[in-house]
Amino acid sequence: MQSLKKEIRITINNLTVSYYDEGPDDAPVVIFIHGFPFNKSMWNKQVEALKDDYRVIAYDVRGHGNSDAGNDDFTIDLFVSDLLRFMDELGIVKTVLCGLSMGGYITLNAVEKHPWRFEALILSDTNCIADSTESKEKRITAIENIRENGVEKYADDSIKNLFAPESFIAKKVEIAAAREMIVNTSKNSLYRTLLALSGRKETCTELSEIKVPVLIMVGEKDTITPPAAARLMHEKIKGSILHIIGQAGHLSNMENPLEFNGQLKKFLTSVYSKKIKPAGKMENHSKSETTFNPEPGKHQPKPKGQNRGETLSYEDADKDLNSKILKITMTIMDQYPELSKYIEEMPVTIPNEKNPDVTLSNLKTYYESLSLMLNKYKTEHPSIEN
Ligand code: MLT
Repeated sequence: MQSLKKEIRITINNLTVSYYDEGPDDAPVVIFIHGFPFNKSMWNKQVEALKDDYRVIAYDVRGHGNSDAGNDDFTIDLFVSDLLRFMDELGIVKTVLCGLSMGGYITLNAVEKHPWRFEALILSDTNCIADSTESKEKRITAIENIRENGVEKYADDSIKNLFAPESFIAKKVEIAAAREMIVNTSKNSLYRTLLALSGRKETCTELSEIKVPVLIMVGEKDTITPPAAARLMHEKIKGSILHIIGQAGHLSNMENPLEFNGQLKKFLTSVYSKKIKPAGKMENHSKSETTFNPEPGKHQPKPKGQNRGETLSYEDADKDLNSKILKITMTIMDQYPELSKYIEEMPVTIPNEKNPDVTLSNLKTYYESLSLMLNKYKTEHPSIEN
């Protein structure tokens, strides 16, 4: 699909990741993860729809689009660890995550392992069950078919199942775009991802642990991850919202962007309007709450850190403090989760209505409070160390 968006590439641990990063740097972040075997361009219409109000990021999962494949065996766990490294590299502490199908599998596994990194989830045309024996066999057959008959034939066969019947008449551009994404995926990545999908674990039993707002969407005619699969997740995720998208099959965001984006926007608005920012919680803030909005260099990753200083001359110090804060927050969340509740009680350091300015001094106070708390805890609990 033709894209007017600026593609950015960063290399993280020798793996180049290609992504779009649109919208204000300091707005709440929404990250989109595509399905198999597509790429970030499947989210073009969502990026366009959200970029005035959110920092919208869509990246290519390894081996897809313009991201490197690397040498490791593909697994959903590997894709999750890529996502987390990508977020760390961009200085994104917390984000809303939206995944379609395989992107949803990655989302569900990511929230299971790193719940505190996600503000809210959108699960689109996905499911929580693992592959049945029959599905696994189909994946092996697909690999054999690609080997024998090539990717073009695989793309033509796949397209038949991806779209709702009416889309074959009304959505020819989207169908051509989906086909192009499939044929542009290397055979090697197709094989490796098919094996990753077939080996994925179920996540249904963990859904009751999800504590963030969740919107579940599914095309009414999705035959790959049907509405019944969405209902099952909806029953298990307390407080989740389920929306069935009309005139859509498996690629509901492309087939009916109007309805999809409408639900997405409504959900995001509710997530952010309900959020009362607790003092000192590291999170993104809206454009109106800051005065610093540096113009990122062309085709360069945006600077790390989300809480900006007031003037450009503060940039380096601001970045340094943000990176320290990110590091210590991650240490607490990963190694001392029992302390995470105190993070929210730290002094006010990010802008809100009462305190509209972020200053280096605020950030410094925040960092020092975190360090103090962690060091005190380690001293009082020497046995936990290591
Ligand atoms: C996808 O769209 O990501 C795939 O249909 C997922 C799958 O095959 O399980």
